[in-house]
Amino acid sequence: MTAACDRHIVRAWVKKGDNRRMQGKRILLGVTDGIAAYKSAELVRRLVEHGAQVQVVMTAAAGEFVTPTTFQALSGRTVRTDLWDAAAEAAMGHIELARWADLVLVAPASADFLARLAHGLADDLLSTLCLATAAPIALAPAMNHLMWSNAATRANVELLGARGVHLIGPGVGDQACGEHGPGRLAEPGEIVSQVAQWLPPAGPLLGRRVLLTAGPTRECIDPVRFVSNRSSGKMGFAMAQAMRAAGAEVVLVSGPVSLPTPPGVRRVDVESAEQMYAAVQRELPGTAIFIGTAAVADYRPLACAPQKIKKNSDSLALELTRTTDILAQVSASAPRPFMVGFAAETNAVEHYALAKLLAKNLDLIAANEVGHTKAFDCDDNSLLVLWRGGRLELPVASKQELARALSGVIVEQFLAQQAAHERDSSAPRDGAELATREGARAS
Ligand code: PMT
Repeated sequence: MTAACDRHIVRAWVKKGDNRRMQGKRILLGVTDGIAAYKSAELVRRLVEHGAQVQVVMTAAAGEFVTPTTFQALSGRTVRTDLWDAAAEAAMGHIELARWADLVLVAPASADFLARLAHGLADDLLSTLCLATAAPIALAPAMNHLMWSNAATRANVELLGARGVHLIGPGVGDQACGEHGPGRLAEPGEIVSQVAQWLPPAGPLLGRRVLLTAGPTRECIDPVRFVSNRSSGKMGFAMAQAMRAAGAEVVLVSGPVSLPTPPGVRRVDVESAEQMYAAVQRELPGTAIFIGTAAVADYRPLACAPQKIKKNSDSLALELTRTTDILAQVSASAPRPFMVGFAAETNAVEHYALAKLLAKNLDLIAANEVGHTKAFDCDDNSLLVLWRGGRLELPVASKQELARALSGVIVEQFLAQQAAHERDSSAPRDGAELATREGARAS
């Protein structure tokens, strides 16, 4: 693949945003009985809009609430309802359907369906498909709130969760029966965005491993005190999510933060700079791209007091010592991944960022101006991205938007570097090698 071709693919991928995960994916949508079944029509419409192929399978009771014709019109496929329909089986048998699916989504999933799935019943087409598929299964339950809270349903949900079945919702609110509580079908938009995370990844980094650090570190003073900084982890977690959306296998080594792990990302929690370094060393083999987003403490107390330090004097001097520079160490490792650093500067941002790019031998650096209400622990940020021969300003935007844009630049530069390496390794190296090749050709 040429570098120009790579660039084309990357731009198309960044432009498509989150929709790319759905493109061409095969979703088998099970519809069971419940008044919320009318929302499944909107769900089909949205999935199709995102580029998915949707095959609807209805239970017999679902037909009491909505007709197959509606789903057929929206999905463009004949709706399947019966395990014993010889004509339909001849076209695509139930086992073929189970194999066809990239994901089985049941929405709405009734209490009865949860119970049947939990206990492995296979007495209709949908339950049989669920037993026969190797694809991930996601359920969006909808039922009366007392049915949802019932011990039997709770046990079934727990059992299904333990087997790796994904759950979407239910939401809390007014119910068709006039009561209020948990049991409302999640909104179609929410179901669509949740489903994307369980689909097989796609994107230019498919098959590549990305290792990131994020958040602050805490350096122990005594058992109850530490030295740290204001990093919330938001920028690093957004980067992890963006790299996952690019198709990579993502490992996120995080300092203490209170953020949920982005879907599909493997997270390793650490506290101190030394723990972060140890975790990075463990996770490094096989890494194609390393991204240092963490605000790693540059210094730590020379010793961590075993007992709480008493206030016996008017002043207290803490002796600090340098921590390991994780980014610099990884950059010096062999084989060396594509190296991305961040630079947090209060002044002369470009000057210091460039110095870090060179001093730590990075491929790319994202610099941000930091300070009171700037970058650290904020939802928005702006970045100056520098690499050898390139520069890009990313103006103020949410950290998620910035992460998407920055990941586009990283992927583009990474692929260009890979292509250059491939060209170099296939080109004749020197006169002697050329002569050997010519000799071989002549003989
Ligand atoms: O977490 P948020 O609240 O969302 O804030 C985001 C952020 C401001 C923390 C982030 O955008 C950012 O700038 N991260 C880097 C912070 C930092 O420590 O910058 P630095 O200029 O001091 O370090 C340069 C690079 O070396 C960084 O990639 C850093 O991860 C790395 N480093 C530094 C010291 C050290 N001991 N080990 C390292 O790996």
